[in-house]
Formats: sequence, structure tokens, C-alpha cells
Amino acid sequence: MKYIAVITGASSGIGREFAYAIDQSMSSIDEIWLIARRKDRLEELSEKLSHNTRIISGDLSSRITVNRLQALLKTEKCRVRFLINAAGYGILGDFESGDRRDETGMCDLNVRALTDVTYVCIPFMGKGSRIINLASSAAFVPQPGFSVYAATKSYVLSFSRSLNMELCGKGIYITAVCPGPVKTEFFNIAEKNGTRTLSLKKFAMTTPDVVVKRALKDSLAKKEISVPTFLMRLFRIMCKILPHSIIMKITSMIYK
Ligand SMILES: NC(=O)c1ccc[n+]([C@@H]2O[C@H](COP(=O)([O-])OP(=O)(O)OC[C@H]3O[C@@H](n4cnc5c(N)ncnc54)[C@H](OP(=O)(O)O)[C@@H]3O)[C@@H](O)[C@H]2O)c1
Repeated sequence: MKYIAVITGASSGIGREFAYAIDQSMSSIDEIWLIARRKDRLEELSEKLSHNTRIISGDLSSRITVNRLQALLKTEKCRVRFLINAAGYGILGDFESGDRRDETGMCDLNVRALTDVTYVCIPFMGKGSRIINLASSAAFVPQPGFSVYAATKSYVLSFSRSLNMELCGKGIYITAVCPGPVKTEFFNIAEKNGTRTLSLKKFAMTTPDVVVKRALKDSLAKKEISVPTFLMRLFRIMCKILPHSIIMKITSMIYK
């Protein structure tokens, strides 16, 4: 039986940082499986890791890639110790002026693919397995100007919490990670239509290593939600006590 970590979105940002962190700290893992579209990036990463790796390059929005993962899990007789669902993107701007494929693509990747990857991995999990899903602080409240993205992340948060309750009896725990802005390539894509985040939001920016360190700690502690920075923990509390209509007015100003 081979113990593996499966990481989606491993070619960049938070997913890549998870690969480094697991490589350095998890000696009980035999292999790290790296999934993303950019094969060259995954090969480059693989060379830097001391663990054995398996590269699965492909578009997760397509069922073909997830089917390939499922087939490999079956033939390799694996136990998935960690599943990190980090693949995802967001595009800033008003929904009606956004590109149709970009808007629906967020649902395909952030929601459908994450659900599908989770579904195919669970049969290969057992006591001690962990799922870490990248949600976002955007999951705490609807965000005009980032409508579809925030809605997809609300799904990830809701899905992760209820799945955690369904599976904890089997010793499988799910943690939804809810960072604010993180310094990655995410914003190159998010701002591609010209809508910029204000410096106020960039002031709250953290780095992938902070997010990943906290997420792994919280996951091992069986926490259902991981919020890496003080400012975002404060934001979460605000979202619980203030009317969402007020917060939505403020966030819609941030994205203008
Ligand atoms: N950065 C932030 O401010 C922030 C804040 C909160 C939450 N998050 C969430 O954290 C996660 C990681 O984001 P990040 O900041 O690390 O962004 P990133 O650097 O842009 O990384 C996104 C990853 O997703 C992969 N990906 C994108 N589309 C894909 C597709 N169709 N099929 C397979 N893989 C795909 C990318 O690889 P390829 O392009 O090679 O396919 C890349 O590895 C996302 O779910 C994001 O929503 C980010």
C-alpha cells in the first residue's frame, strides 16, 4: 500500500507551496501527485522535491483528467493521506460584462472539479486521511464585483463543513481554508479585465507559506475552518455580526 498526497493547482501559488511543505514535513508519505495544466511547471517542481512524484497534467474542468486520476488510484493501490484541492481562479468585474466562459468556468473548476476530485479520492481514504479545500474569505459574504467567485467559495466552505461531519466517524477530516488576498499569480488572472483591487485589500495581502503552514496545522488539529491571518479572522467576525448589506456595499466599493 502506497501513501500519497494529491495536490491540485500544484503548478503555482498555494498548491505549489503545499507541495514544498508536505515534501519537507511528511516522511510518512511515499509519493506526491501533482495536478495542473502546465506540465513544464510540474516537472520543474518535481525536480525540486525529495519525494517521488507523479505528474498528472490536464484541465480539471474536463472529466477526462479526473477520470485519469481515478484510474491511477485504482491501479496503483493507493491510500490518499492528503488531498489538497487548490486549483481555482477568480475574475474580478461585473457579472454582466464578464466573459461567459470565464464566469461559468469558475463554477466548472472551483465547484464541479473540486467536488469530482473529492468524490474519486474518498474511496481511497481512511482513518488519518485529510482533505484541505481552498475556499476563501470571499466565502463569508456575497461580493458584488466578484459575484461568481464568492459564490463558488461559499459552496466550497459549505460543502467542506458538512462533508467533515459526514466523514469524521471514519477518521477523515476536512478543512476549508479561507485566506484573504495571497501574493500569487491569482491576481494576474483576477485583474485581467482591468478591474483592480484597491490598495486597502492589497494591504491585507499575505504569502502562500503563511497560509499553508496554518492550514496544515489546523488540518492535523481536525479544525473545519482555517483562517490564516488576524485581519481575516476579524473580517469573519464582522461578517457574522454586521448586516451583509453593509459589508456588500463596502466590498463593492473596494472592487471599483
Ligand atoms: N491568491 C489569493 O488571493 C487567494 C485567496 C483566497 C483563496 N484563494 C484560492 O486558493 C487557490 C489557489 O490559488 P493561488 O492563489 O495559488 O492561485 P494561482 O497561483 O493562480 O494558482 C492556481 C492553480 O490552479 C491551477 N488551475 C487553474 N485552472 C486550472 C484548470 N482548468 N485545471 C487544472 N488546474 C488549474 C493552476 O495551474 P495551471 O494554470 O498550470 O493549470 C495553478 O496551479 C484557488 O482555489 C484560489 O481561489 C486564493
